Amino acid sequence: MKSGHVKIDWVYKFMPLLRSIEEKYEHKKPLRGLRIGMSIHLEAKTARLALLLRDLGAEVVVTGSNPLSTQDDVAEALRERGLIVYAKRTSDEQVYLKGIKDVLSTQPDLILDDGADLTVTAHTEFKEGLKRLRGVTEETTTGLRRLRALQKNGLLTVPVIAVNDAFTKHLFDNRYGTGQSTWDSIMRNTNLTVAGKVVVVCGYGWCGKGVAMRARGLGARVIVTEVDPVKALEALMDGFDVMKISQAAKLGDFFITVTGNTKVISENEFMQMKDGAILANAGHFDVEVDVKTLERICVEKFEARPNVTAYRLSNGRTLYLLAEGRLVNLAAADGHPVEIMDLSFAVQALSLIYLADVKLEPGVYPVPKHIDEEIAEMKLASMGVEIDELTDEQERYLENF
Ligand code: NAI
Repeated sequence: MKSGHVKIDWVYKFMPLLRSIEEKYEHKKPLRGLRIGMSIHLEAKTARLALLLRDLGAEVVVTGSNPLSTQDDVAEALRERGLIVYAKRTSDEQVYLKGIKDVLSTQPDLILDDGADLTVTAHTEFKEGLKRLRGVTEETTTGLRRLRALQKNGLLTVPVIAVNDAFTKHLFDNRYGTGQSTWDSIMRNTNLTVAGKVVVVCGYGWCGKGVAMRARGLGARVIVTEVDPVKALEALMDGFDVMKISQAAKLGDFFITVTGNTKVISENEFMQMKDGAILANAGHFDVEVDVKTLERICVEKFEARPNVTAYRLSNGRTLYLLAEGRLVNLAAADGHPVEIMDLSFAVQALSLIYLADVKLEPGVYPVPKHIDEEIAEMKLASMGVEIDELTDEQERYLENF
């Protein structure tokens, strides 16, 4: 069997939630008659989600959600299984954007977005994509930020379900998924020791917490940088050092940005860093480490290892950037662990089924609570864990003032 198919079959073995959704809905075909346009980091787990949506009745058209995060063998396997796939691993933004427009030109009824490129493009430069559009599910923090900005400007014309904000998504995917897969990628691409090193984590949101927690588990001394005083205090109370990036720049052996913001590490910091410092980004866009400035100020650039670019600076020091500053766990590894994405994609699948069934005004909506609870229950059951239930007396007690 070809590698793409092997990868897809491997992950499905460890996705009990998607398998039970398939069992429950396969005969009802709740997505029948709908075309779903997907923009997603196309690797084995997302491919499996696409196949599930197809099995629930949808016609599925797929492209990537970041220039480097598509695995071509997986894209090929999906084509061989009958899906329309435009995704391609590329560093070329134009090739990437063409995939987005190709999906929109099929006029999807529903969009499954990761980072909001499909939805924002449909609302701005490619309005043909809005013609039949009934709703969107958005996977990530950055995508929701963009869609809320679109709404604030009065431009959003469809309902959006905020998949990222479901508890069964961000508490696990952003925290444990990003925590594990970011370190998996950094370690496999550098082959360096983490124990005893200084790790600087920029941003202590859901992803940053996971990255910092796992760095500590690997034996690193961890510094957190933040702009939100509450998050900074939380990091301090969680036992991490907290300081400005300008101070941390001199101390770090590894730097990981995970803020959803831009130019978090730039020229001032680059010039302060130790020789051999490693730079990685786990945020959605490649703007957190200011790569354009790094390109401009370096005196020499070369490939040090696969996925590792060396930049020699005028002060004689060399910095190493992973995966061109794109999200390191997807652009240079396999993304989050399988079981974590099983949870996230259960939220996606049930949110799409919900969207297909209801009529909502344009706006950004939370995932209904019953979906979150159903998924948590399914996950516990799949792990063989039982929990207590409230007695009638306890319920009455809790409702009493
Ligand atoms: P979040 O909103 O929970 O946390 C972001 C944190 O960064 C906030 O606490 C904010 O105060 C802080 N921040 C903003 N600007 C900063 C700056 N200049 N310096 C230091 N801290 C700063 O967001 P979350 O969920 O942690 O997501 C972060 C990014 O990671 C987003 O772009 C999201 O889309 C992406 N993401 C990536 C994943 C991956 O697989 N690599 C998975 C999930 C999310």
